[in-house]
Amino acid sequence: MLFKLKLLFVCAGSIIYLFSFSVCATFDDVTNLEQRFKNISPNIRPRVNQTDFVEITVLMTLASIKDYDEVSGTLTVVATYVLYWHDELRNWNQSDYGNLPIMRTPIIETWIPKILIRNMVSKRSVFLFDNDVDTRTTFVRYNSSGQAKFMVESLHECSCSAEVMYFPFDIHACAIELLTVEQSNEIRFRPLLKEIYMAYTQSNAEWSV
Ligand SMILES: *[C@@H]1O[C@H](CO)[C@@H](O)[C@H](O)[C@H]1NC(C)=O
Ligand SMILES: *[C@@H]1O[C@H](CO)[C@@H](O)[C@H](O)[C@H]1NC(C)=O
Ligand SMILES: *[C@@H]1O[C@H](CO)[C@@H](O)[C@H](O)[C@H]1NC(C)=O
Repeated sequence: MLFKLKLLFVCAGSIIYLFSFSVCATFDDVTNLEQRFKNISPNIRPRVNQTDFVEITVLMTLASIKDYDEVSGTLTVVATYVLYWHDELRNWNQSDYGNLPIMRTPIIETWIPKILIRNMVSKRSVFLFDNDVDTRTTFVRYNSSGQAKFMVESLHECSCSAEVMYFPFDIHACAIELLTVEQSNEIRFRPLLKEIYMAYTQSNAEWSV
């Protein structure tokens, strides 16, 4: 029953998707805009005035807790990060490009912020693309005013304190600390919500979140 409900939702979602994208933009329109974007270096912060910082709004959604190892204090989570920022260089006048409302650009061809997790056990980057296809098919979405949205799903292990005194009713508070290698006058993070978004969190057999 639940499965049917989910499937229905997906179908409805894709109908809406098709609808909102039936604009009169042609292949040429999209190619022209893509060409314009390619002339902008992906290595330069998307600010007209390079002394301005980029504010990155972060929404973290916890998909599930895969495991928690009490002995080592290692928490394994599947999390989705949605990053929003404003790009001052990648915007366009919709009427010049067949009313194209959204442009997708592969991450290797555009500027994205690098985010790291301070208390990650093995790797520290949130971006765990493990092959070229993965990287090539991951996009940043821009609207015509230059609002950028980038979503990345990540499975990572974080180190947390292990306090098992009240086992099996133990409670752990775990922090996932995001940081960037850039200086704070270049990039600043801002959480969209005060807490991790957990509406879609799957419960774990051993742990309730
Ligand atoms: C860039 O921004 C800085 C700080 O706001 C300002 O002092 C500087 O004059 C700006 N430069 C230009 C070229 O607008
Ligand atoms: C966008 O382009 C159209 C047609 O070239 C022009 O009339 C309009 O003023 C432009 N809008 C902006 C915000 O530049
Ligand atoms: C682009 O997205 C931003 C933020 O959601 C919004 O304020 C802006 O109106 C959007 N621009 C267009 C042209 O839809």
